[in-house]
Amino acid sequence: MLAGKKILLAVCGSIAAYKSAFLVRLLVKKGAKVQVIMTNSAKDFITPLTLSTLSKNPVHSDFFEEKSGQWQSHVELGLWADIMLIAPASANTLAKLANGLCDNLLSAVYLSARCPILIAPAMDLDMYQHPATKANIDRLLSFGNHLIDAEDGELASGLSGQGRMADPENILAYVEAFLAPERPLSGKKVVITSGPTHEAIDAVRFIGNHSSGKMGAALAEACRDAGAKVTFITGPVHALPPNNTISIQQVKSAGEMFEAAQKSFKDADVGIFAAAVSDYRPKESYSNKKKKDGHSFSIELIENPDIAAELGKNKRKNQITVGFALETDQEQQNAQKKLQNKNFDLIALNSLNDEGAGFAHETNKVTVFDRHNNHYDFELKSKKEVASDIVNLIAKELNA
Ligand code: C5P
Repeated sequence: MLAGKKILLAVCGSIAAYKSAFLVRLLVKKGAKVQVIMTNSAKDFITPLTLSTLSKNPVHSDFFEEKSGQWQSHVELGLWADIMLIAPASANTLAKLANGLCDNLLSAVYLSARCPILIAPAMDLDMYQHPATKANIDRLLSFGNHLIDAEDGELASGLSGQGRMADPENILAYVEAFLAPERPLSGKKVVITSGPTHEAIDAVRFIGNHSSGKMGAALAEACRDAGAKVTFITGPVHALPPNNTISIQQVKSAGEMFEAAQKSFKDADVGIFAAAVSDYRPKESYSNKKKKDGHSFSIELIENPDIAAELGKNKRKNQITVGFALETDQEQQNAQKKLQNKNFDLIALNSLNDEGAGFAHETNKVTVFDRHNNHYDFELKSKKEVASDIVNLIAKELNA
């Protein structure tokens, strides 16, 4: 996919610059032609020799090449590239680019480039969270640039949080998806429900469940990578997918989730119902905190709307719905019954009996059933890989 593609990799001064060596190697291995620009401070972290050797091209840093006595044309570099990939992008460079400063080769090339620009930031978590950095990123996105969001994890400072540059493998996947001529869900709108719902008992207590929302988040990212416009409706969870490329709506109860899903599904092509919606809610909820009074206390529960079933009832001919079934017994029969009852086009069954599958795990093992009596058994895989298998089946269904 990358054969012959011209990628201009811009490297800023960040400890993550060492990962650029791996990135260059991955891109070159895929057949891309890579030229590298380094800021002067990037050279404190990795040598130009490393990157010129791996890219098989001289590294550019200055407007004026002392050795050859030649002027380095920033315009030419910008015009040469099919994409400019700034990885790692430091807070300082983000601030410069957001404000049109061009006091070094990298920023001058950025300003004159006509190709798409992909930005993979890297910095400490507090710098990443700072309103100034956030505003700079928003501004850069509003100019039409693309963000490869920083990942969560251990940082060079010893702190832990969001700020580390996306893994080179993930950057490669993003670049490949970005440059793919036609992606499987290009131009499609996908609505995803995800996570648990919280049904209020009183001002502080609720009925909920253990759904982590990880499968839904992986699906949102996989659909986005497949070219879809994604609306992600999520109950209360700890981690959300990056919100710059996915439209996120946060809700609490099944009622709120239903309302949001109804609105978004109207003009959607695909609905994926990955939420663990509470089947019941307290008939009444107390607006204050309920005090104990020495007596037993019972809560009358009433049924919540079945979001997937309700939206499935009136779906248009070309709308596809996908559901999940988490079962403990008579798994296959129950999943197929749900496919019929909720008018799904596809249903992914995961069994609580399978080790490593279901709630809170990083992995999942699913069997997907369709309406034509086909079923697809998948191995235990990362939720990301499961999501991409499901996306491929959705694409197949849309083309059927
Ligand atoms: O009936 P059960 O809860 O097992 O069905 C699971 C499927 O239905 C999932 O896709 C889930 O997101 C969806 N569902 C829903 N609204 C409910 C209950 C389940 O959308 N109230």
